[in-house]
Amino acid sequence: MYDLYNMIFKRKSFRYFNDSLSLCIEELQNIEQHLNEAMPLLDDVKIKYRIVKREQTTCKRGEYCILVYSEKKENYLLNVGYILEQLDLWMASQNIGVCWYGMGKPDNLKYDELDYVIMLAFGKGQPEEFRKDYTKAKRKDIEVIWSGEHIQNVTNVVRFAPSACNSQPWRVIYKNGVIKIFRSAEVRTIIPKEKISFYNSIDMGIFLCSMEIALRHNQYEFKRIVHEGQKSDEEQIEVAQYTIYLE
Ligand SMILES: Cc1cc2nc3c(=O)[nH]c(=O)nc-3n(C[C@H](O)[C@H](O)[C@H](O)COP(=O)(O)O)c2cc1C
Repeated sequence: MYDLYNMIFKRKSFRYFNDSLSLCIEELQNIEQHLNEAMPLLDDVKIKYRIVKREQTTCKRGEYCILVYSEKKENYLLNVGYILEQLDLWMASQNIGVCWYGMGKPDNLKYDELDYVIMLAFGKGQPEEFRKDYTKAKRKDIEVIWSGEHIQNVTNVVRFAPSACNSQPWRVIYKNGVIKIFRSAEVRTIIPKEKISFYNSIDMGIFLCSMEIALRHNQYEFKRIVHEGQKSDEEQIEVAQYTIYLE
C-alpha cells in the first residue's frame, strides 16, 4: 500500500459529477489494475470486482460503479472496507470522484458464486471539487472516538475516514504502545437497525485502512491482530489491535 496519506485530506464523497466528461479506457484499466493490486486485510477471503456502467445499477450518480462480490467468511466486511478504501483514496489522487453507495442495487447479486456486498460509484471529477479544508469536514470530536494518549498526526487524521451515513462507529483506546480499536454498537443513525452491523463493519475496515496509512506515513512499525467473532450484545465490539514498535 503506497503512501495515500495526503489523499485522506483530499477525498470526499462525490454527489455531483460532470456528466459531460468521460473516463477513458486507460483510466478504467488503471482502476482495474489498482483493484487487483490492493492489499487485502485477510488473505483467505475470495473477493472479485466488476466495473459496470452506472445504468446497470440503481445508482443515480457517477459514470461507472465498482461492484464488490465476496465470500462470506468471518470479517469479510472488514476486508471489503479495507480494500475499497485504498481505491477511494487512490482515485482521489487521479482526480476521479468517488462515492461509496450502500443504498445502490446491482444488476446481479451473485458473481462467480460470490455474494454482492457494496458498490463505489465513480466518475470524472474536477480537481477543484475535492476537499479543500479537511478541518471543515463534519466529524465527531476526538474525545468521543479516542481515549488515552494521542499519536501525533494519526489521532487527528484517522477520524476523517468516511462511514455510512457518517456514523463513525470507531472507538480507540491507546496506551503503552497498544492501539485497541472497537466498533460502537450504539451509534445513532438513520440506518435501519438490522443493517447497522453490516455497514458499520465495512466502515471499520475503512478505518483500519486509514489507521495503517497514517501509522506508516509517520514511520511507525506495527503488528496487527484482527479479532474474530464479534459479539453483537456488547456495546463496544473489539475489532482489531495494533502493537506499535516504539524505539
Ligand atoms: C459503507 C458506506 C456506505 C455509504 N452509502 C452511501 C449512500 O448510499 N449514499 C450516499 O450518498 N453516501 C453514502 N456514503 C457516503 C457517506 O455518507 C460519507 O462517507 C460520509 O457522510 C462522510 O462524508 P465524506 O465521505 O464526504 O467525508 C457511504 C459511505 C460508506 C462508507
